[in-house]
Amino acid sequence: MGKIRILSDNLVSKIAAGEIVERPASVVKELIENSIDAGSKKIDIELESGGKRLIRVSDDGEGMTRDDSLMSIERHATSKIRELKDLFSVSSLGFRGEAIPSIASVSRFRMITRTHDQVIGTVIAVEGGVVRSVEETGAPPGTTVEVRNLFYNTPARHKFMRKTETELSNVIDIVERESLSRPGIGFELLSEGRALLRLPGRETVSERISELYPGIGLHRVLAEAMGVRVSGLMAGPLDTRSTTQKLYTYVNGRGVRDRFLTRMLIDSYGRMIEKGKFPQGVMFIDIPAGDVDVNVHPTKNEVRFGNARLVGDLIRESITGMLGKAPWLDGRSRGFEHAPGGFVPAREGGAAYGGPGSGDGEAGRGVNSFRVYTNELETSAAHVPSIGHEPDRHAEDENRAKGLFGESGFYSGLKVLGQLGDLYIICASPDGMILVDQHAAHERINYERLKKAYTGSGTIHTQDLLVPEVLELSPHESDVLSRYAVELGPLGLHIEGFGDNTCIIRRVPALLKNTDLKRLVRDIVSEIKESGAEKSLTDKIDTVISTMACHSSIRANYELGPEKMKALLCELDLAEFPHSCPHGRPVAREISYTDIERMFKRT
Ligand SMILES: Nc1ncnc2c1ncn2[C@@H]1O[C@H](COP(=O)(O)OP(=O)(O)OP(=O)(O)O)[C@@H](O)[C@H]1O
Ligand SMILES: [Mg+2]
Repeated sequence: MGKIRILSDNLVSKIAAGEIVERPASVVKELIENSIDAGSKKIDIELESGGKRLIRVSDDGEGMTRDDSLMSIERHATSKIRELKDLFSVSSLGFRGEAIPSIASVSRFRMITRTHDQVIGTVIAVEGGVVRSVEETGAPPGTTVEVRNLFYNTPARHKFMRKTETELSNVIDIVERESLSRPGIGFELLSEGRALLRLPGRETVSERISELYPGIGLHRVLAEAMGVRVSGLMAGPLDTRSTTQKLYTYVNGRGVRDRFLTRMLIDSYGRMIEKGKFPQGVMFIDIPAGDVDVNVHPTKNEVRFGNARLVGDLIRESITGMLGKAPWLDGRSRGFEHAPGGFVPAREGGAAYGGPGSGDGEAGRGVNSFRVYTNELETSAAHVPSIGHEPDRHAEDENRAKGLFGESGFYSGLKVLGQLGDLYIICASPDGMILVDQHAAHERINYERLKKAYTGSGTIHTQDLLVPEVLELSPHESDVLSRYAVELGPLGLHIEGFGDNTCIIRRVPALLKNTDLKRLVRDIVSEIKESGAEKSLTDKIDTVISTMACHSSIRANYELGPEKMKALLCELDLAEFPHSCPHGRPVAREISYTDIERMFKRT
């Protein structure tokens, strides 16, 4: 007899279970997905010890006959696909026919099920993959699966289960994820008899979402092309989290944890959010079934797109579309009637307020009064000098050309009350008070100016240095700089001559004139060095631009007169993403009347 043998079904199931069932949350996921596929309207999940001791999932779905329930514990037994071609148009969540046998092979498993047209149900008990009993039983229509002592017979896996709280939090995450795309189904999660989630069936996804993101402002995102639709509700860049846990993505209604999708989403926020922070929200990708492969991994958490670039572009478009409108500032246009002085955001139905939910009656009230203020601003703002180290004629010309000073925007529409700590500009807003970080604001303005110059959509004023600066570099630095010198040209930074490990700075952008150029160039070189080989040129240049913007910006501890403050706010309105600095820190924060009233214990 040869040395090769076919493994027993029981062993194969245990091997498969290693991939599918990683922890209690994976069991919950598979069982919920089966309940969803069975057309359930209500799914209840009960846990003991975070699912380590017991997981019970009950549904009111179609149930199974005795024969089917016996089949369901066999490997590769499924009612969901029949032939290969079904795999490419599968609309159910399951299709592999592996989940039930895998789970049953690594636990003490019991399934009670009854179809709606039968009077008696079936109860099957399986232990470590071995069927112990099959009996008739009285049961309501639907299916209940009990999984006890998960991994009791696979010690290596058992050891890897975490603390009850950790496992519990993973289960909550899964239930939330599954429930978000199925608002019509009611979900209830009990742990040690205590209800942790109670989500009644809802009409719309938005209702379900708002239940699961209490107090978080979520904004509609949407982009569509070539039969692919990307839609969802995402939080603004100030509502970030320290993990991606509350960032849910769905492909054709299937919750996935796909690295490509998550990365695209995070990248779309770019520098709007701080390093180490993550956006939150819910995104649905609807794509013709033939253009996506869901059979990539046994957990079905990953997908492959036929046209990944299109999907990526649409995600980016949908997010940047939302970010550009800054809908998270919408609240500021409301509550106008409480605002003494009547200073309201001044862009009439303009982009900054054109986000979802705007244009309602409340916002309308604000618009009326801003016109009065706009006139006032026209006279004052037309003459304001630019801020920074020298008047930036270019920006002024640009502003005039666009007529934007006259039109006014959100920031320029605020009434400047003064400066605090030589760093913060204090403004009155319709809802209270806004503090603008002058350094962050200026950094954002210069960042965008430099970026436009680099991409060719704008020009930057440069200045030849009367006395060129000579900088000594290490051989490595010299090498790095010589390779990137050409890229720095469009940014207005002309550096030459790398012989003898020295370089000469000949020309600089006007906005960098008064800065410590040697330090700037050294910073740029080390940024490029540190960004490593895996970063694209665009990313590298982006870092360089942020560094230049930072060096060129008015520092903290710099007193600004009223006109300069006004000018800064006016320029901020011209920025595409005015609400955060290139490093993701916020440019402005609001202290609302409600906050103030709370401070004074008026509420
Ligand atoms: N809650 C349920 N209600 C009704 N039928 C169910 C339920 N759970 C499982 N089944 C039946 O048992 C079969 C096997 O379930 P199992 O989860 O093992 O495989 P699957 O869902 O078809 O595929 P996958 O392995 O991808 O989940 C299903 O195809 C379905 O017919
Ligand atoms: Mg299944």
